[in-house]
Amino acid sequence: MSDGIVFIDGKYVRPEEARMSIFDSGFVWGDVVYDVTSAWKRWIFKIDEHLERFHQSIEGFRLVSPYSVDEMRRIIAECVERAGLEDAYIKMQMTRGVIPSQTRDPRLGDCQFVAYATPYAWIWGEEKCRNGVNLYLSSIERVSSKAIDQRFKNYDRADLVQSRFEAYDHGCDDSLLCGPDGNLTEGPGYNVFVVRAGKVSTPDSNILEGITRRSVRELCETEGIPYEERKVHPDELNEAEEIFCSTTAGGVMPVTQLDSRLIGNGHKGILTSRIQELYWRKREEGWHGTRVEDVLNG
Ligand SMILES: Cc1ncc(COP(=O)(O)O)c(C=O)c1O
Repeated sequence: MSDGIVFIDGKYVRPEEARMSIFDSGFVWGDVVYDVTSAWKRWIFKIDEHLERFHQSIEGFRLVSPYSVDEMRRIIAECVERAGLEDAYIKMQMTRGVIPSQTRDPRLGDCQFVAYATPYAWIWGEEKCRNGVNLYLSSIERVSSKAIDQRFKNYDRADLVQSRFEAYDHGCDDSLLCGPDGNLTEGPGYNVFVVRAGKVSTPDSNILEGITRRSVRELCETEGIPYEERKVHPDELNEAEEIFCSTTAGGVMPVTQLDSRLIGNGHKGILTSRIQELYWRKREEGWHGTRVEDVLNG
């Protein structure tokens, strides 16, 4: 299988050929926004919603894109096409570029756009994403949206990475973090949902508003499953009948243990299974999808 194609400096290259300056403010200041979508059976999922969120992240970080949205749409489709992938993980990323060495003025950066398509990746491996994971409620606080607006998808992820270490230290697979107000936020790369009395609830603030989360909302609405976005206290995890997470790189993913304590009977819950099954069946059928060739021929 192809290991993917990267678009960098206006050229399509193999991943091992892609190089960036160590002076890019993406590395020096963590000054980066990005977005990730996926192709499934060559259907690119919600391409315009991802481009729209990417555009909002770029504006939110006061970056200046060297490419228009239409050009970026074509570039990501071209990456999938050239990589020859059916199922792909598709990333677009914008850094502020190199700031001249005698200044710290972020306005002087020359923004750099990089995109790539690599084989579809499951955040915890396919088996755990489909059947269940053991999460740890971290003691590390998610950075406040007052400091870094989490609606803008960004690489300032030290809190998320440290929480993952903490989870591993406790024998768990990954973590969940609370925000400055003590309420639940999200995990390192996914939104979280708690099911109680047949109702699905998910945190409403200090989070990245996931596109998969929107898809969960849509599926709940069409299936008549009660759904709400609100403050979720971490104690609710202990009272949950089911817990699940959502992300582009894994879809709808059951949580079957919390700090190694079983949720429900320790198997993926009935509601979680229903939403997960629908999500993947619809993805196979091209739900909210755009064919790679339609972007390229458009
Ligand atoms: C912090 C964070 N929250 C949530 C998500 C899920 O977003 P999406 O469903 O758009 O992939 C991600 C995805 O990478 C993320 O990094």
